[in-house]
Amino acid sequence: MKPITTFIRHNGIKVLLAAEKGVRGISQKKLCGNLYDVEPKYVGTSVKIIRETNDTSYIAKYDKNGRIDSGDFKILVTTDLHLGDDMALTRKALTMLSKHVAEEKPDLILFTGDVVLSMCQQIDAIQFGAFMEKMGVHWAYVFGNHEAREEKEYHKYFLMKNLSSFPLCLSKLGDENLFGYGNFIINIMNSETSIKQSLFCFDSGRDIIDKYRLEYNVPAEMRGYDFIKNNQMNWYKNNLAEFKENYGEFKSMMFMHIPIPEFAIPMDFDADNNLGTPNGNGEILYGGMYESVGCSQFNSGLFGLIKEFDNTQAVFSGHDHVNDYCALYDGVYLVYAQCGGYETYTLEEKTGWSEDKWVQGVTMVDLHGDCSFDLRQRFNRNYL
Ligand SMILES: [Fe+2]
Repeated sequence: MKPITTFIRHNGIKVLLAAEKGVRGISQKKLCGNLYDVEPKYVGTSVKIIRETNDTSYIAKYDKNGRIDSGDFKILVTTDLHLGDDMALTRKALTMLSKHVAEEKPDLILFTGDVVLSMCQQIDAIQFGAFMEKMGVHWAYVFGNHEAREEKEYHKYFLMKNLSSFPLCLSKLGDENLFGYGNFIINIMNSETSIKQSLFCFDSGRDIIDKYRLEYNVPAEMRGYDFIKNNQMNWYKNNLAEFKENYGEFKSMMFMHIPIPEFAIPMDFDADNNLGTPNGNGEILYGGMYESVGCSQFNSGLFGLIKEFDNTQAVFSGHDHVNDYCALYDGVYLVYAQCGGYETYTLEEKTGWSEDKWVQGVTMVDLHGDCSFDLRQRFNRNYL
């Protein structure tokens, strides 16, 4: 049972949202039309949802005979589309995304945050959802620091509620007792009784705020970006144990917006030249570092937990728009998803490079039936 204050807050705001929707719809003639004026190609899918709980979707790819296909499963990951109020840049980001989707025909599209950031974010999130549905591929949206205004306020609640109501969207509000909104899991099944890969998606929050100093023992001097909280880590741990009991051995990946502090370990950053160089603490498998790692100053211990349970193979993040490296650090792949947006800083500002060298694009994750996987970068610059 929700507290009455939560009930009033969540429902009272519906009136304001309706007003926002009406005003915007009338002023921009958006509500009945194709909001973004980008018509993506329909790709379709052979993926079906087997079953769902409040925070977990069990999905599988099916063959022509209606049997679960235990072969390859393709995930397209992209981040920081920064769809804002500059419609030309918004259309450019969505057009590029739709080209990658049409060419790759992924089985799942995953966004690691900072996607819809316009002034009327609630309305445009609905428009974004409508755009995604047109491609006919399952998709999921993890919150970034810019989706948040307050961690437990109506804004994020409604955003996730609206996004998760789209039939092909696999995002879920999740357990409301956890930090943030939208901590959810996608279990990609190899059969009815075995998991190919478990995708743990976290709301990585926004900034360290004063109340965390008491709640999570964050030292007084620490400021800046947020971190994964204890209750989210317990949720991860408990679900790993439950899945193992129910389905036997499996492997997992994590998806979140703000990178964990370990992303900074394998590279040394030279702020004068906006360039990172590998330092031997891990292996850089591809990509570059053109800005410092925007992680939290507070390390809440997620990587330690990953090592302890030896189940998660890769951690994907967004947030740092011009970093696109993949590092193998202490046996775990730390992967920056390619940024897909243009209404933000670019490599031109950071390095002076022209657009034919920018890193905007998507990261392809080819999952194999034996729980192994391959990563591929695909760049928007090929479509210029
Ligand atoms: Fe961003």
